[in-house]
Amino acid sequence: MIETDFLVIGSGIAGLSYALKVAQHYPEKKVLIITKTRIDETNTKYAQGGIAGVTDFEHDSYEKHIQDTLVAGDGLCNPRTVEIVVTEGPARIREIIDWGTRFDKDSEGDFKLGKEGGHSEFRILHHKDVTGKEIERALLETVGKQKNIQIIKHWFVLDLITQHHLGYLVTKSTPDIECYGVYALDQQTNKIVKILSRITLLATGGNGQAYRTTTNPKIATGDGVAMVYRAKGRIENMEFIQFHPTALYEPGVSPSFLITEAVRGDGGILRNSKEEAFMERYDQRKDLAPRDIVARAIDSEMKREGTEHVWLDCHHMDNAKFIEHFPNIYAKCKSIGVDVATQMIPVAPAAHYSCGGIKVDEWGRTSINNLYACGECSSTGLHGANRLASNSLLEALVFSHRCFLDGIARVDSVAFKENVPDWNAEGTTEPAEMILITQSGKELQSVMSDYVGIVRTHVRLQRAMKRLDLLHEEIESLYETTAVSPQLCEVRNLITVGYLIVKEAAFRKESRGLHYNTDYPKKSVILQNIVL
Ligand code: FAD
Ligand code: SIN
Repeated sequence: MIETDFLVIGSGIAGLSYALKVAQHYPEKKVLIITKTRIDETNTKYAQGGIAGVTDFEHDSYEKHIQDTLVAGDGLCNPRTVEIVVTEGPARIREIIDWGTRFDKDSEGDFKLGKEGGHSEFRILHHKDVTGKEIERALLETVGKQKNIQIIKHWFVLDLITQHHLGYLVTKSTPDIECYGVYALDQQTNKIVKILSRITLLATGGNGQAYRTTTNPKIATGDGVAMVYRAKGRIENMEFIQFHPTALYEPGVSPSFLITEAVRGDGGILRNSKEEAFMERYDQRKDLAPRDIVARAIDSEMKREGTEHVWLDCHHMDNAKFIEHFPNIYAKCKSIGVDVATQMIPVAPAAHYSCGGIKVDEWGRTSINNLYACGECSSTGLHGANRLASNSLLEALVFSHRCFLDGIARVDSVAFKENVPDWNAEGTTEPAEMILITQSGKELQSVMSDYVGIVRTHVRLQRAMKRLDLLHEEIESLYETTAVSPQLCEVRNLITVGYLIVKEAAFRKESRGLHYNTDYPKKSVILQNIVL
């Protein structure tokens, strides 16, 4: 058994920045970070375009960033959250710079600001096209110097510990569900460890792995959302899955390599198989329209022409500047035989970001006491029906700070729970056939990609739900009889996430933002977040 004052699940931008703050504030308290694979294997590491924030007050303003976020969110953003994130963001960006993050600057020492879809101004700070890698590096180096932070890698968190584990009946209407810590699988010893905490933060990231084609690494399996749902906490807006318009089209390669939107911000043009610049037919902002619009336009061109990708044309751009801003993309394209100076890049949409998640208030508090969530696994109200590009890293920083402020005020009033039982593995045996687990994962991805993608219909959603019911039944029976493994738990969590996406999508009788249902093509006059 382990006891820690602050328990942080996840080592991406949300978890690391939170851990640093609480550890620096309380050098005498213990902070434990658990992460399920390698320490830097996170969605954060793959972020390319950068982090949005108002830094150039001569051309830009908070009002403009707020307005762009609200427009992208298509009526469902919480205006108070938008204001909080936009206005508190620059101070949080300053902190990660102080912790060693290097953003690109021009010869005068001013930030080189990028632009992406839905932004009315140049406001994206970036480190070439590998911003996430740079942020992750700086945060990990700073965390490494903080003596009261312990990081344990290759431990898989299985479940939150609540009253349920003490034998009480916990339902959605139980008023005061409490989190006492987690059970985690040590993947080296195969033992399940009980970790008790005063305050727990979920920073478990996204769920792109629910889809066959995704920009998200293998770790993005929605574990935090599934754990909270099982613990009877509140989840919202899961139907708003953002498909990035331009993932590199490379059949058989997973995850898909991203071609950052910043390439279009610098002048890249989308073309169909006839080399026509089709975006002007869909939106007056053309290639820099918000992501939902561009992804749907590409989907419609591909379906109309019967193709598997469109093209991103960069050959008219200054090649030296391209290589300077996008060295990673340039090298990747070259490695598959595409010279961006003379050839177009094949691209197609891929599942990229979960706008919904664990419902939190403006201090990052979930509906379960002493449990906070921030980063991609949370739903703060910032993104509404569609996230504005590069607002995610910003949201993670602003909300990890808010979770920190609330948590430090509360930690001393929370005692470690006594008499929490050990994990009960009775009646389970080693899996006879791993194929049963991997096949369920593949089936889930097919169901979600074929029926719950960019364009949805009532019948497709109904079909998806029937398939998911069966997958759920099968995985639950495996779970009851089989020794837990990350593979089993990830597929189980992804099936739960798939269920939540389909259930909320079926409730939404309208088309808004990222949720487009041809049976309900109009927006409803009623604005609502769907909470389960
Ligand atoms: P992550 O960085 O994904 O970290 C999640 C952590 O939780 C990992 O350490 C994981 O191991 C751990 N974890 C999960 N489940 C468990 C478990 N059961 N047990 C133990 N540990 C667990 N956003 C922007 O704002 N700008 C961009 O330019 C940008 N580009 C992107 C490019 C790509 C290719 C991708 C995939 C995303 C991009 N995003 C971008 C989105 C952004 O990167 C993510 O939303 C953000 O990094 C999420 O950070 P996080 O800390 O919430 O989660
Ligand atoms: C990109 O660089 O295009 C991704 C940005 C984001 O997801 O916010």
